[in-house]
Amino acid sequence: MFESLQPMPADAILGLIVEHRNDPRTEKIDLGVGVYRNADGQTPVLDTVKKAETQLLETQTSKTYIGTAGDPLFNASMQALTFAGAVPDDRLVTIQTPGGSGSLRVAAGIILQARKNPTIWVSAPTWANHVPLLGSAGLTLKEYPYYDNERQVIKVDAMLDGLRAAPKGDLVLFHACCHNPSGLDPSEDEWRAITEVVVERELVPLIDMAYQGFGQNLDDDAFAIRHLASHVPEMMVTSSCSKNFGLYRDRVGTLSVLADGPSSLPALESQLSSYVRTLYSMPPDHGAAIVSIILNDDDLRAQWSAEVDEMRDRMRNMRVLLHDALKAKASDHDFSHLVRANGMFCFLGVTAEQVGRLKKDYGIYMVDSSRINVAGITAENVDYLASSVAAVL
Ligand code: LMR
Repeated sequence: MFESLQPMPADAILGLIVEHRNDPRTEKIDLGVGVYRNADGQTPVLDTVKKAETQLLETQTSKTYIGTAGDPLFNASMQALTFAGAVPDDRLVTIQTPGGSGSLRVAAGIILQARKNPTIWVSAPTWANHVPLLGSAGLTLKEYPYYDNERQVIKVDAMLDGLRAAPKGDLVLFHACCHNPSGLDPSEDEWRAITEVVVERELVPLIDMAYQGFGQNLDDDAFAIRHLASHVPEMMVTSSCSKNFGLYRDRVGTLSVLADGPSSLPALESQLSSYVRTLYSMPPDHGAAIVSIILNDDDLRAQWSAEVDEMRDRMRNMRVLLHDALKAKASDHDFSHLVRANGMFCFLGVTAEQVGRLKKDYGIYMVDSSRINVAGITAENVDYLASSVAAVL
């Protein structure tokens, strides 16, 4: 049976982890997968995670099953972190999921239960895994304009026109903050204009939030979600704790569904439960239990918020550092978009061929689109990085 299977190409993002690991050059730099790194190039476990994990170890008395929706306290805490009361709780259902990707997969499944042949509009470009993940689940994907490669800005007018052209009732995928891959987000006024079109076209938003706290701060990064939620009858939010809690491998996320009224909730809850049961039965508990401890302890929560601030500030500083180094070494190129972007990513703005040369000749790894993870930059490697980029330019 398995003889008929052909090998698949390596994943555009995850494949870089292996390539970088196998590169013997000491000067190599990993700007590939979206993982936070500190000034020493490490991805340490957050202090608050260590503390909560210690607490969990001491107090947990059972590993028995919890249920398809995961831990109710975790779900309520994450729902509050995301929505902060922007809509009444009796219109919302939130379930724990295996990471943001698991959440997206469940969202796709529920959409397919509710609607025949659904179409979802995604930004051009979007996270490389959105397309195969949602597509293989059975959704039809179409693109709305987003990033202007020439001017390195978001094309908000074209985006609005694209959304106006979407048939009524279609779904639309937004990035809540820190757009992956461009790092460029609509302003609050632009989100208001986007919301007007969403309401006018009766589009159903699916908002992916993988980087809450990495853009401006924990609250401002949820602006789009809270604003849209207070204007639309229905929407979905997929959240990830991989980045802001550093719980990448523990797979922690949530799916929140906003219904038009409380009477829709029982059917939604039972559909979600039954769908999850057929997919993976129940989400993993360990990481979610840690998040729940942190969010429900005032001291730990304040410390965690400061840890998020520190990660965000470091990434901002690294953007400025690279921008200034490139300005000095490649002064005829404009890299101002580097410092206009939010969160972990932006495009370097070089061609795929130049990305290939950076990898081959200099051991510098990034996605073919020239998306870079700015957390891979350090005060020690920025000079080598900027000189190498200048050389391939
Ligand atoms: C990324 O875009 O690099 C991250 O979201 C990690 C992943 O799974 O692709």
